[in-house]
Amino acid sequence: MDGNGRWAELKGLPRTEGHTAGEQSLMDVLEGADELGVKWFTVFAFSTENWRRPPEEVRFLLNFNEKILLERQDELHERNVRIRFVGRRERRVPKRLLKRMDEAEILTRKNTGLTFTIAFNYGGRAELVDAMRRIADAEIPASRITEKTISRYLYDPSMPDPDLMIRTSGEYRISNFLLWELAYSELVFSEVLWPDFRREHLFAAIKEYQDRDRRYGGVTES
Ligand code: FPP
Repeated sequence: MDGNGRWAELKGLPRTEGHTAGEQSLMDVLEGADELGVKWFTVFAFSTENWRRPPEEVRFLLNFNEKILLERQDELHERNVRIRFVGRRERRVPKRLLKRMDEAEILTRKNTGLTFTIAFNYGGRAELVDAMRRIADAEIPASRITEKTISRYLYDPSMPDPDLMIRTSGEYRISNFLLWELAYSELVFSEVLWPDFRREHLFAAIKEYQDRDRRYGGVTES
């Protein structure tokens, strides 16, 4: 959900106003994805690198995530959305927020509609480090470690590899998002800043995806 800060700066507003405006985009895009029948939808809400931002912005983002959860979880629950989190649950994340995250997961765990995964305090490299640590703790012999083993030790082993990754705001990077999982995903880059991103932009990205030829390293059958 990139471009919030720039959106706000362009309007002469504090950066945090961009995050606030991004909530509307998130809800619209989520609803659009749900209408299309998308089953798995993941957003990058806070990265392991975002702690480097000014303390006021970090504090704002932590409170903002909590506020969104509190205000939206019932509405999402009614829409049969299952809320999940991926990321490091470490000391830096306030206990109260961790509790809210657990509550949202528990409230919605039996829902059968779209799975809405929030990558929070998430880093793709951190996820791989955490997976390796748990594999070592489980004393799995090196010769028995396969790609499947690593997938099984990721934060949410039930999450399928994404078909499509959309990056907004004209940046052309993965920025440590789902590094393992994105190996064969189609990437769509949009110039639109996140606060201006709406379901139409999601639909356009999916249309672009539909025109791609996914070969997974093989060749296309004629
Ligand atoms: C990146 O824009 C955006 C973020 C770091 C936060 C986005 C978070 C939300 C919209 C809230 C989502 C909350 C939940 C619970 C799902 P940026 O600040 O990097 O923008 P810039 O690149 O223009 O500076």
